[in-house]
Amino acid sequence: MKRKAYQDRIIYQIYPLSFKDSNNDGYGDLKGIISKLDYLKSLGIGMIWLSPIYKSPLKDNGYDISDYYEINPLFGTMADFDELILEAKKRDIKIVMDLVINHTSDQHKWFLEALKDKNSKYRDYYYFRKGNGKKPPNNWNSAFSGSCWEKVKGEDNMYYLHLFTKEQPDLNYHNEEVIKEIEKILKFYLDKGVAGFRCDVINQIYKTSLENGKFSLFSRGREHYENQEGNFKILERFRKEVLDRYDDVFLVGETSALTPKIGQEYIDRRALDMFFEFDHAFCKSFKLIPIFKKSFYKPKDLYKPIFKWQKEVSWIGAYLENHDQLRSVSRFGDEKEYFKESAKALALFLLSLKGTIFIYEGEEIGATNYKDLTYEDTNDCMSKSAVDTAMKLLHVSKKRAFKWVNETVNRDNSRAPMWWDDSLNAGFNEGHPTWLKVNNNYKNINVKLEENDPDSILNFYKKMISFRNKSDILKDGEFKEVKSNSYVAKFARKLNDEEILIVVNLSKKKFKEKSLDESKKILISNYSNHINNVLMPYEALIYKIK
Ligand code: NOJ
Repeated sequence: MKRKAYQDRIIYQIYPLSFKDSNNDGYGDLKGIISKLDYLKSLGIGMIWLSPIYKSPLKDNGYDISDYYEINPLFGTMADFDELILEAKKRDIKIVMDLVINHTSDQHKWFLEALKDKNSKYRDYYYFRKGNGKKPPNNWNSAFSGSCWEKVKGEDNMYYLHLFTKEQPDLNYHNEEVIKEIEKILKFYLDKGVAGFRCDVINQIYKTSLENGKFSLFSRGREHYENQEGNFKILERFRKEVLDRYDDVFLVGETSALTPKIGQEYIDRRALDMFFEFDHAFCKSFKLIPIFKKSFYKPKDLYKPIFKWQKEVSWIGAYLENHDQLRSVSRFGDEKEYFKESAKALALFLLSLKGTIFIYEGEEIGATNYKDLTYEDTNDCMSKSAVDTAMKLLHVSKKRAFKWVNETVNRDNSRAPMWWDDSLNAGFNEGHPTWLKVNNNYKNINVKLEENDPDSILNFYKKMISFRNKSDILKDGEFKEVKSNSYVAKFARKLNDEEILIVVNLSKKKFKEKSLDESKKILISNYSNHINNVLMPYEALIYKIK
């Protein structure tokens, strides 16, 4: 059976603000991305997912869109975007857009019209509701803390709904016209030749009711808007009315609060082709509560949830990093003695999983979290409100609150300008101050350096990507968990009569491993010499079993 593009290709996520600044204004841009297409080709990836590039006031770095049909001038023009598609196509690379349709920016003309004129049709594009006495219309809270209702200035007791920041008002999917507007946007980009969409918070777009939510500290109200039947119906409609009219295009959903059963339902109903799970992203690799001095993390906290999804759903978007997560080598690997080994072990682990593999910019060189970020350096709107909430709830100083937020959730850690070489600003641009500070470890971690080092993390990624690109068993094989201990992830992939075993030590410990004898053929590994019956710190291997 012929594979679909998303089943065949590895996807590389670009955060446009941070990838490459071609005009030296401090912000990454489309021309910058075009200039790096050969690099991406040499890496072996087959698709690029672009985080939002549309016009936006950047309150949430583009996840607040003020015009779906225009490119943010900081990133370039629609002509630059067309050129990107064309240049990518020449290299057999497909482009995937970020579709942010739960909300728009409060600067979108629909919302501005709705504010200006109560009788405008755009009023019903959003949720405007009267307050409940002196209180907001219901008790829901926003994913970024606080109430998710904002008072409308100049109107008596009127509020609008925003599940994220107040600058991101939620769209009303009970309104047929809103659905039609989104279908128009999908068509516009599919006609340009994009291969699919990563759909932002897509399992929350349909609000069944606006009743009060059950008691919960986070996202109170979620039972009224997560994975609702109406949500499935809208996505099914997009498929039938739009996507099915194009060849080989796909949707990947960003879907927190999912169970494997619901995830599979999205796939079976063709509402989505795949989705991202968040169980492993929320695993306790960091101090969940700031008063704890140490973390209680064990590698099985990472691999067990991943295995659960690998076993229980037919396809998935597999990832360790994205623009909302901490850097994986800092979180699950070792930044010191076993830096290279651990980054490579994570690469082998990720690239051996079932599903579509997503690599986030910088992951391929072992990019780490910042060491010296301060509250003042921080750009991330979510982290800023988390600091305020932590100060209020836990009565801790700003410094302490920030330290904790920074180590646990600060999204800026993965958003630093890309580490290209050891010149000024890491080669991201020609020296203009950057929108977010450059991580000062760029002299030791950067693309140029690693391209020239045969033993580098980057060269291991290339090797592993090429291995996967040629491997039917990694693309199509079933996933089987193999019993192991809390530190070593073991699993098998099986296709027809063929079987391979993947063994990844995700710790600094050394293990005796009886089963790893010479009779089994090592296909690829991250250590140059494997010592029989021993698993070295962060050693990772793939064996041919049958
Ligand atoms: C998920 C995106 O990945 C995140 O960056 C954004 O802040 C929220 N959705 C809101 O759009």
